[in-house]
Amino acid sequence: MNNEELKSEINRLRHELDVSIVAHFYQKDEVFDMADFTGDSLELAKWAAKDDKPNLIFCGVGFMGQSVKILAPNKRVFMPKIACCAMAKMIDVDYFDQNIKILEKTGIAKEKIMPVTYINSSAEVKARVGEMGGYVCTSSNAKKIITKALQSGKKILFVPDRCLGQNIAIDMGLKSCVLGDGIDPNGVDIICYNGFCSVHQLFEIEDIEFYKQKYPDILIITHPECKPEVCAKSDFVGSTSQIIKFIKELPLEQKIAVGTEFNMVNRLREKNTFILSSTKPECPTMNETTLEDLYATLLSIQDKRFENEITISEDVRKYSYEALNRMFEI
Ligand code: 13P
Ligand code: SF4
Repeated sequence: MNNEELKSEINRLRHELDVSIVAHFYQKDEVFDMADFTGDSLELAKWAAKDDKPNLIFCGVGFMGQSVKILAPNKRVFMPKIACCAMAKMIDVDYFDQNIKILEKTGIAKEKIMPVTYINSSAEVKARVGEMGGYVCTSSNAKKIITKALQSGKKILFVPDRCLGQNIAIDMGLKSCVLGDGIDPNGVDIICYNGFCSVHQLFEIEDIEFYKQKYPDILIITHPECKPEVCAKSDFVGSTSQIIKFIKELPLEQKIAVGTEFNMVNRLREKNTFILSSTKPECPTMNETTLEDLYATLLSIQDKRFENEITISEDVRKYSYEALNRMFEI
């Protein structure tokens, strides 16, 4: 089947089977076009959890589908590819526990630690954070959540993205360190786990200098998963949705260089838009999902094979829900 035939079959099946389809901005164009709703991580989780259809197909990465299942356990959530975000994979519960132990050795008792996990983490890590009274945050609300978490008077352990943690600390005028960087965690407010997004590491200060030299009036727009020195030199830093909103309000003559995933930047606008890197910043896991996969997932629902369904054990769901729900309460 060619893409047009696939699309028409997908449309037929989604209505017949009462399935909603959501897609993150980083998905391939042909997959993105099939979605009932698109958004950043926070918007997708909120929309999908409230959607009244019994079945959902999530075109994104694993933690995104899991978040919906945690929030709406009665919904059947499927993913055309259970592709795991490389950053989320950098931490599991064992690493999380080891880091708590390392902090205890420096004299910071577990009771004095308030964990905050970026939504880009597994359900198990979210559950650990929930058990300790901590929070989930996304790139669009991290500052708000950290402000609330600091009210506990405890030290923040921020996992897994060191860049987001450091960027928020700089923005709020707080001190931060990355575990293992030699800085004493006793002297800082936010202790960051040493995880990162390999896609957003591609954007460098040299890329900003290159574009600024070529087009002095260009605006540099980046995602907070970029390195702190890159965000510090940017004109706007925000979540994927915040970036889209910011750009929509600019005149078309305004030149922009954007530091986030290729698929999203490529469909932003036709003119005066540059990728802030000489290397194509493609997220390998986001790019795994194809139209064929989406069609195969619908067929498996039709045939009651239910392939690639997201399941979460009740004990993990209970505590991960607490961490996610604390975010929604703020
Ligand atoms: P957003 O929440 O900004 O969409 O970010 C998700 C993500 O994985 C960015 O790399
Ligand atoms: Fe994960 Fe980075 Fe891909 Fe976002 S761009 S899904 S953080 S690997």
